[in-house]
Amino acid sequence: MTEIIIREAVTADIPNLHRLIESAYRGEASRAGWTTEADLLGGQRTDPDDLAGILADPAQALLTAWRGDELVGCVLIADRGEGTGYFGMLSVSPTLQGGGMGRRLVEAAHGALAGRFGAHRVRISVFPQRETLIAWYRRLGYEATGETLPFPYDDPRLGLPLRDDLHFIVMERALA
Ligand SMILES: CC(C)(COP(=O)(O)OP(=O)(O)OC[C@H]1O[C@@H](n2cnc3c(N)ncnc32)[C@H](O)[C@@H]1OP(=O)(O)O)[C@@H](O)C(=O)NCCC(=O)NCCS
Repeated sequence: MTEIIIREAVTADIPNLHRLIESAYRGEASRAGWTTEADLLGGQRTDPDDLAGILADPAQALLTAWRGDELVGCVLIADRGEGTGYFGMLSVSPTLQGGGMGRRLVEAAHGALAGRFGAHRVRISVFPQRETLIAWYRRLGYEATGETLPFPYDDPRLGLPLRDDLHFIVMERALA
């Protein structure tokens, strides 16, 4: 198998990033993977303006995983202050999932959050309906904090909800 290279995204990566993230999170293409938001949300997960805003923000970055010149995975990292980091938008090409790339990207996110932002703990937010995904995050060391966050029903840039009870649970782990 061709080696996977992980590097930070640049502006020229935005079209590839947009395609990858939408294919992992939404619609029929995402169902080739083992976990998707397609049953919870329609519409978009992100858009090129949103991605450009992330790249322009010194408190955020996108790590990208490449197999040759093919973008096969990505993860957003963000500094939430006071030693707390966050990751999200974790995406692996649906047809390549289950081969360890997701775990590798999470480990890269942990390293970058600690190295760049001095994070000593990481928080993530997950839909409680996604039980297999939550089980995986538990295996990666995350535990639910008991906190919940509202889903922004008034912001179609994050998707078009297919149910009226969407919210997130917060999970957290310490970094060594
Ligand atoms: C979440 C995601 C990034 C994981 O990527 P991945 O490359 O499949 O991750 P890995 O191969 O490293 O790990 C997959 C894990 O799921 C498990 N798994 C595989 N198929 C599964 C299935 N059908 N049901 C449950 N678990 C499954 C594997 O055993 C593995 O667990 P392990 O690491 O404890 O052995 C990927 O599924 C994805 O892009 N999903 C769509 C976007 C998304 O939901 N992102 C997270 C939002 S918070």
